[in-house]
Amino acid sequence: FRTLDQLEPAGKRVLLRADLNLPVRDGKISDTTRIDRLVPTIRELADKGARVIVCSHFDRPKGKRVPEMSLKPMAVALGEALGRPVGFADDCVGPDAEAAVAGLKDGDVLVLENTRFHAGEEKNDPALVDGLAKLADVFVNDAFSAAHRAHASTEGVAHKLPAYAGRLMQAELEALDAALGTPSRPVVAIVGGAKVSTKLDLLGNLSKKVDVLVIGGAMANTFLAAQGKAMGKSLQEAEMHDTALRILDEARAAGCTILLPTDLVVAEAFAANAPNQTVSVDNVPAGMMALDVGPATVAAVESELKRASTLVWNGPFGAFEIPPFDTATVQVAQTAAGLTTSAGLKSIGGGGDTVSALRHAGVADRMTYVSSAGGAFLEWLEGKTLPGVAVLAK
Ligand code: 3PG
Repeated sequence: FRTLDQLEPAGKRVLLRADLNLPVRDGKISDTTRIDRLVPTIRELADKGARVIVCSHFDRPKGKRVPEMSLKPMAVALGEALGRPVGFADDCVGPDAEAAVAGLKDGDVLVLENTRFHAGEEKNDPALVDGLAKLADVFVNDAFSAAHRAHASTEGVAHKLPAYAGRLMQAELEALDAALGTPSRPVVAIVGGAKVSTKLDLLGNLSKKVDVLVIGGAMANTFLAAQGKAMGKSLQEAEMHDTALRILDEARAAGCTILLPTDLVVAEAFAANAPNQTVSVDNVPAGMMALDVGPATVAAVESELKRASTLVWNGPFGAFEIPPFDTATVQVAQTAAGLTTSAGLKSIGGGGDTVSALRHAGVADRMTYVSSAGGAFLEWLEGKTLPGVAVLAK
């Protein structure tokens, strides 16, 4: 794919697909990571004299103009992060957008209103694609985290304009390639989370690509129960036992070592500081539930990490939101970050809870790369082709 290294943007109108789908709490942006990571691309384009037209979706307005889902606050936050004025157009296509673009000078930055205010966005409707393409001379996609959607602004428009990867997209793709494409081995993957059923494809794909697959979180309970262990009141999916055993068999056949917990921290209730004890996976008391993995499991994971060259991490080990059940996640995260610095471990994390877990452990900026993507990172771990990336490679 082409990057900004191949683009001479001076005087050009650049349609930049960003992901301004930021978390908002009580009407306020609660995390500006996606904006912070977008800034280098915008700054580079604007400094080189491009007229930067930023488009993005926000939330799921389903083709309707929902005032609470306006991108205006994101435009303000982007202006603050850039330290320069940022314009705003009330629509992403049509007369408002065209007039705003016509008023741009070289180096100016404009944000267009939420692309999902148009039903054509999610349908990848040619009319919306044309409306967007008309605004610009070239298209730059910096929204890896939305690249699993084949929408007008992520996929359709890339067929209509010369298309390039922005710096954030480039960084994500390079990190992912280092993790599973052409990784230095051994590769260890840690997969946690609540349910096996939501991560079937992911486990299947990873077990064919990595050397050691560590399974943690509540999904480990399902594997342990499938092996005949009594799991007490632990969260697990009884209907997934056969599937879990099949995943273990297939991984073994592919030469992948699976590491399941050997000890667990159990409590009577899912509550912060609930009285708890550490038990072997063979001795889970009937009235108790597993909320974290225990120290023997942590030690086994750490010794795999010490031998590893590459780590891919998705999902916490335990209920890390409620102490002390964050212990294993925090300890392994700190070990991984330490090995990244001291031993050159390539550590890549992403998807859903993983970023907040790594942040909670205080290591998010000490890993080799932490993806800004949620669903897109997961689909990529599943081995799926992301439409917004595929079209850039054409
Ligand atoms: C995300 O936040 O993961 C992306 O912006 C995609 O959002 P979506 O799941 O609403 O398509």
